[in-house]
Amino acid sequence: MDYSFQHYLLAKQSVDDRALNRPVYEQMTASLPVQPLRIIEVGAGIGTMLARLVRWGWLKQADYVLVDEMTENIAYAADWLSRWGTETGLSVERDGADRLRLFDPSHEIRVSLVRADVFDFIRSQPAPADLLIAHAVLDLLPLPASLPPLFSLTKNLAWLTVNFDGLTSLEPILGPELDSEIERLYHRSMDARPSGGDSQCGRHLFSHLRAVGADLLSAGASDWVVHPVNGSYPADEAYFLQFILHFFEESLSGHPELDPAAFSAWLAERRAQVERGELVYIAHQMDFLVQP
Ligand SMILES: C[S@@+](CC[C@H](N)C(=O)[O-])C[C@H]1O[C@@H](n2cnc3c(N)ncnc32)[C@H](O)[C@@H]1O
Repeated sequence: MDYSFQHYLLAKQSVDDRALNRPVYEQMTASLPVQPLRIIEVGAGIGTMLARLVRWGWLKQADYVLVDEMTENIAYAADWLSRWGTETGLSVERDGADRLRLFDPSHEIRVSLVRADVFDFIRSQPAPADLLIAHAVLDLLPLPASLPPLFSLTKNLAWLTVNFDGLTSLEPILGPELDSEIERLYHRSMDARPSGGDSQCGRHLFSHLRAVGADLLSAGASDWVVHPVNGSYPADEAYFLQFILHFFEESLSGHPELDPAAFSAWLAERRAQVERGELVYIAHQMDFLVQP
């Protein structure tokens, strides 16, 4: 199988669509001033959140800055957002490699694409936004130390979504002991990432936010629940699941506490469960709306 991170982010869209906590989202949209808004999204990947916010009918007029450290993501975002905009019926104007205008009589969205480590971007002192978005990224960063610099990017709200929170479930069980050992080691690998990371980011954010003096306006679960419907997965979710298994393989191959043969048989059987439309995957996550 060809593992492409950008393809994974595309396949993740329908899973995130179901997962995002609606009361938190609704409070976010209700609490912001009238558009146009300035929005900064950090760890924005290929721009699928911007597309979602247009698709959901909320985002109409904005300066939208997407920041991601991966060159491939930013290059892909420029092409993909242009293609997506055209397919959606928006007019698209490109201005060089890093600027895009998506518009029609009711939309005027000016997109800036920034390839940068988010902390370098913060040091460049960009104008603060009305809304900071960090989607599926805070659990990769050192916390709580990252919060004050991140919050300098907003003068109003921060919407912090899909923060992993310590629970992975793969059903049906293959072997209770091996399954829980793999889950435990997988979570531990998240805590040991050199760039930071916390496998219980969701629950820990409550105290981290209090510690940095941010007002918590709303919080709720945003679990990924991926399951077959009539024997097959919706949209591109079979690819999403294969990529999640690839994360397991990348994180745990050669782990001294795992028997290599048992782990490789476990992976092969989990992949076969996806192909047969049997695997059910649940990851517990949390969303927050914050006034820093
Ligand atoms: C799990 S992906 C989520 C991407 C996107 N938010 C989405 O859900 O489609 C995390 C993203 O954060 C980016 N990222 C991680 N650390 C970063 C940093 N220090 N500065 C900028 N981007 C970062 C990665 O390149 C990656 O694209």
